[in-house]
Amino acid sequence: MSARIIDGKAFSATVREAVARDVTTLKANHGITPGLAVVIVGEDPASQVYVRNKVKQTAECGMNGWHFELPADTSEETLLAKVAELNADPAVNGILVQLPLPKHINEAAVIEAIAPEKDVDGFHVVNSGLLATGGRGMVPCTPLGCLLMLQDTLGDLSGKKAIVVGRSNIVGKPMAQLLLDANCTVTIAHSRTRDLADEVRAADIVVAAVGRPEMVKGDWIKDGATVIDVGINRVPGAEGKTRLVGDVEFAAAAERAGAITPVPGGVGPMTIACLLKNTVTATCRQNNIDLAAL
Ligand code: GUN
Repeated sequence: MSARIIDGKAFSATVREAVARDVTTLKANHGITPGLAVVIVGEDPASQVYVRNKVKQTAECGMNGWHFELPADTSEETLLAKVAELNADPAVNGILVQLPLPKHINEAAVIEAIAPEKDVDGFHVVNSGLLATGGRGMVPCTPLGCLLMLQDTLGDLSGKKAIVVGRSNIVGKPMAQLLLDANCTVTIAHSRTRDLADEVRAADIVVAAVGRPEMVKGDWIKDGATVIDVGINRVPGAEGKTRLVGDVEFAAAAERAGAITPVPGGVGPMTIACLLKNTVTATCRQNNIDLAAL
């Protein structure tokens, strides 16, 4: 079998178009323009590229965007004061503090300082608790993007065997919760899992989020399975250049899978699209507007 390539770039464009339509309706019918504030501390070049992209796409969807660049030596106290100011600002519906933060800042303390209803990353313990207990919180963007791609590819996920390789708070754990909510039978695998190859071979759905280049081998994939690759790893390429690879051995996996996401152009673009979607969701909830009725 040769897999269908799941085009995250094209799919994310349709998600962003839907967000832009909702923003137009919010402005026209409710006089509300959703607003997203993004805070970055320090000069990490990769983070700066991500953040610029987030702010650019926020504007392209018709939302207000604010971009705060704080120096690397910003104190935790100053950052917490910035978060408090954004929490109190009614024009700001979503707050994202770009991670990782410099070592001298307690990341958990900053995340917990964000008002849960403005936490468009879905990282606050209130939101992870709501996700774990079937409540209505904010859902982390990358797993949400993966779920949307899976539902677009497969329709109803009920009864499918899913494996999530990786157990991070940002991707692996919330992904497993979302798949469970969608009635999958879910396995969470990690570095201590025994017989990982056999666990993956049993799965109809494989979500790889371990951050290790091509760790999931192509011959582990069941014929016809759907493979979602969250990994973005830079490895040495030809002529002294580097190239991006995922956590899955793409070419070999594509020979067996029914559908697979590429790297780049798969999960990556969906993450920002879901951030914008979450900002609209947060805006509606803060204003008691039924999102489904927009
Ligand atoms: N750094 C890399 N990805 C993310 C993300 O999705 N949210 C935040 N806040 N920081 C990140």
